[in-house]
Amino acid sequence: MYVIFLINASYAFAQIHGKYDAIYSGTPWFDQNGNVVSAHGANIVKEKDTFYLFGEAHTDTSNAFVGFNCYSSKDLYSWKFESMALPVQKSGKLGPNRVGERPKVMKCPKTGEFIMYMHADSLTYKDQFVGYAVSKKIKGPYQFKGPLLFNGKPIKKWDMGTFQDTDGSGYVLVHGGEIYKLNDDYKSVAEKVNENITSGFESPAMLKKDGLYYFIGSHLTSWEKNDNYYYTSISLRGPWISQGLIAPEGTLTWNSQCTFVLPIQGTKETTYMFMGDRWSFPKQASSATYVWQPLVFSGKSLSIPNYQDAWQIDLAKGIASSKETSDTIIKNNDKQIEFKGNWKNTDSESKSDEKDASFTIKFSGQQIALYSLVSSENGYAKVVLTDEKGKIIVKAVVDMYSKFSVLSQVFRSPVLKKGNYKLTVYNTGERPNWSDKKKNIYGSTGNYISISQIKIKPHKI
Ligand code: DGJ
Repeated sequence: MYVIFLINASYAFAQIHGKYDAIYSGTPWFDQNGNVVSAHGANIVKEKDTFYLFGEAHTDTSNAFVGFNCYSSKDLYSWKFESMALPVQKSGKLGPNRVGERPKVMKCPKTGEFIMYMHADSLTYKDQFVGYAVSKKIKGPYQFKGPLLFNGKPIKKWDMGTFQDTDGSGYVLVHGGEIYKLNDDYKSVAEKVNENITSGFESPAMLKKDGLYYFIGSHLTSWEKNDNYYYTSISLRGPWISQGLIAPEGTLTWNSQCTFVLPIQGTKETTYMFMGDRWSFPKQASSATYVWQPLVFSGKSLSIPNYQDAWQIDLAKGIASSKETSDTIIKNNDKQIEFKGNWKNTDSESKSDEKDASFTIKFSGQQIALYSLVSSENGYAKVVLTDEKGKIIVKAVVDMYSKFSVLSQVFRSPVLKKGNYKLTVYNTGERPNWSDKKKNIYGSTGNYISISQIKIKPHKI
């Protein structure tokens, strides 16, 4: 009996989808059902030993609100889909054909209830306010209550965030830098503690370290990424001191927009994890990814000096470390890669803008990763990973567009069980592009897809 149980357990483990060994940025993540994790404009709440991720669910066809998802994880690497925590309402301000963005959940210390805040709006972004919803259980379902009131009136602002101070006080942050202190039940505003600091300053996020508040935000560039910047102050009431960019200039915050900072407190250190979105309009469900990086502090400055494809966190100690890799590197011109269609080849890259052009590699290993030279003339690639019988393990639509060109990991499979696999990447003939409410055009100018390298993590012997 005992032996049978062990065999079954290890078989079941080998079948688990969405199992990861590190925090990977800029690649689609797959949940336990093999679906792409859709939780943007997110935040994370820790309850006992579990992290809960709340974020925007999306479709690839419209920007209309389709609900806020909840996922859980014990390690911050592998995410399990839990629930649609707040579904689209039958009617009203978060009903059909409305906008719902940036859900942020906090547990109210006084009542023990979970309160979710969000930006609600019309599809044309002309009816914005900060709304809230409540639930007794962290996973929801959350009940939408309408606008959060300050002096009996809604806060008519768009991008928002939240911050919970060490004394348990809850705050709502809005674009531009206004800060609102919540009442004890977290369901209305007690006081506006900070006025607007600057114009823009979207996607506000905050952390506190050694008594100093750090207030991070982005410029206003629709879904395009930009160089995010921050202020510091010893009081939430200011004065706020401008501290400059949080990542090297021109990297556009490593091609992301901030949404939240998660303090990961251990026995030795606290790691502050920057959480950012790499938006991908219009395919926000399939192709928008996450940029989660440990913040590096030097005196009173913070930064993300280097982009880490993969890093690990020792949750007990609170220490972040780079992920060591034993990956085998296969370059774009290696004979193991079979190309179909028209491709332009150099020593560092093969690229094609022909619809349905593809490349395939057969391999055996624990994980496979694709590195591309992302650029302003790149579009969407379809990536399909199958086993040797042709059964699809995972598939994804990967965005190879970036306003600045850089060698990037754009796909990484979950950990695979021992076996032989095939990865095929196709040109979809589509690209991310869109216009904002002022009719400014953004996004890619071409449909290229690109391969520079494939990396394979060998099986353990
Ligand atoms: C930038 C904001 O930060 C996003 O949340 C979203 O509202 C887009 N603008 C819409 O263009």
